[in-house]
Amino acid sequence: MLKELRPQPPDKIIKLIQEFKDDPRDQKIDLGVGVYRDPTGLTPVMRAIKTAEKMLWETEMTKTYTGLAGDPGFQQAMKDLVLGDAVESDRVAAAHTPGGTGAVRQALELVRLASPDASVLISAPSWPNHKSIVNYLSIPARDYRYFDYETRTVDFGGMMADLSHVEAGDAVILHGCCHNPTGANLNETEWSEVAELLSSKGAIPLIDLAYQGFGDGLDRDVAGVRIVAGSLPETLIAASCSKNFGIYRERAGILLAIVPDSAARGVAQGNLAFLNRQNFSFPPDHGARLVTMILGDDELRADWMKELEEIRANMLGLRTQLADELRRRSSSDRHAFVKAHRGMFSLLGGTTEQVMAMRERHGIYMVGDSRINIAGLNRESVPQLAKAMIEVGM
Ligand code: LMR
Repeated sequence: MLKELRPQPPDKIIKLIQEFKDDPRDQKIDLGVGVYRDPTGLTPVMRAIKTAEKMLWETEMTKTYTGLAGDPGFQQAMKDLVLGDAVESDRVAAAHTPGGTGAVRQALELVRLASPDASVLISAPSWPNHKSIVNYLSIPARDYRYFDYETRTVDFGGMMADLSHVEAGDAVILHGCCHNPTGANLNETEWSEVAELLSSKGAIPLIDLAYQGFGDGLDRDVAGVRIVAGSLPETLIAASCSKNFGIYRERAGILLAIVPDSAARGVAQGNLAFLNRQNFSFPPDHGARLVTMILGDDELRADWMKELEEIRANMLGLRTQLADELRRRSSSDRHAFVKAHRGMFSLLGGTTEQVMAMRERHGIYMVGDSRINIAGLNRESVPQLAKAMIEVGM
């Protein structure tokens, strides 16, 4: 039977990790997978995580199961971090999932369970795994316009025109902040307009929040999420701790399901636990426990926020340096978008040929759609990237 299996297409982003490793050149630059790197090229374990791990080692007396939907302390801490007081607590069901991707997967399964005929709308472009999971679950998918490739800003007119065709019960995937892959984001007025449109259509937003704290700051990055969650009767949020806590391999994420009232919350909570049980049973605890400890301890939390700000400032500094370098070399302002984008990514808008030329001639690896990970740069490699971009005509 297993010999009937067909090869699966490799994930474009994950494949790039190996291709970069296999390149023998010393001067190569990895701007592929979305992993933060400090100026020395290291993806550090954050200070607060190290401290919490030591405390946990000293105090943890058992590793028996937690709840199917994870530890209630983690659920509460993440609700507070993401939603603040935008939504009454008794309207929020929550389940700890293996990473943000696990939350996206469970959210889509929940949509299918609630409404087997629902379609899912995905921004064009989006993180490729969104469409991959939707297709894998045999949920019908449609694109909505999102990015203006001329200006490298949000094509808000196109987005609203396409979303105006959404049907009641459809789910719309939105990026909470730091849009992946473009780096172009909605402002608060635009978020309000999207919320109003989806509300009038009876559609449910599914917000992927993988980079809270990487764009404009912890609270400002969830301003849109809070507008949507606070004004619609139902919202799904898939939040990740991989990036903002730097615990990628620990797989800590959460699915928040906001429902109209506390009666609906009980049923939703039961469904989230059921879905966890079907797919993996209990979620992995270690990363989530560290996050809970940090968010619940004033000193650890302050240190975590400080380090997160250092990370954010480093990426903003690199954006400014790259935009300045490109302005100087191109004698034009056509790359100003690099400085306006937020988060780890910018979609440069280059062709496949240009992306391949960057790789082959300059040893600079970015995703095939010309997405760069800003955090893969440092002060020394920025001029190298700018020079190569101008040389290949980007
Ligand atoms: C990315 O987009 O590079 C990250 O979200 C990592 C991943 O899993 O694809």
